[in-house]
Amino acid sequence: MSDRQTVPELMDDTDVVDLLLRQHALIRDLFDEVEEAPAADRAEAFRRLVRMLAVHETAEEEIVHPYARRKLDGGDSVVDDRLAEENEAKQLLMQMDKAGPGDPQFMTNLALLRAAVLSHARSEERYEFTQLRAHTSAAERRAMAAGVKAAEALAPTHPHPGTESATKNLLVGTPVAIMDRARDVIRQVMDNKHG
Ligand SMILES: [Fe+2]
Ligand SMILES: [Fe+2]
Repeated sequence: MSDRQTVPELMDDTDVVDLLLRQHALIRDLFDEVEEAPAADRAEAFRRLVRMLAVHETAEEEIVHPYARRKLDGGDSVVDDRLAEENEAKQLLMQMDKAGPGDPQFMTNLALLRAAVLSHARSEERYEFTQLRAHTSAAERRAMAAGVKAAEALAPTHPHPGTESATKNLLVGTPVAIMDRARDVIRQVMDNKHG
């Protein structure tokens, strides 16, 4: 039914900034899907959104923000502001996940979460990613993309038959559990790259 290009496996970006911009667009689509889902499908649509958000924000926190902190003009304050935004959204996400999509406040909270997440994404694009692109080489952006892709593989939004069972076990649990799992995978990939 959906003709959107929201299958992360199809993403072949090798530039970390391109990859993160694609994920921002994907997150926007996943919010649409939760909003438009009939009540019976809402929980599964929300699961996909939670997974993608957890994986995306964890990848930024592990890979991109530390780099931006070191390399950007005023990097500390740019990154501190982004982390504060991410934290605020994360608190709301955890609260919503706990209450579940049957909660009477769910759609109201979803609208709040959407506004917070998308405004955060715009700030990243404006204050962080533009500078990041200017201050890094293509090789550095490719190296960072590897970690983001490894994390993304944990969050197929519309899994192909056969791959679903492999990823299913990785991705149950609370947003915090998913973030922990993503962090482990990212650290393994990034450590290997550094020898
Ligand atoms: Fe972020
Ligand atoms: Fe982001």
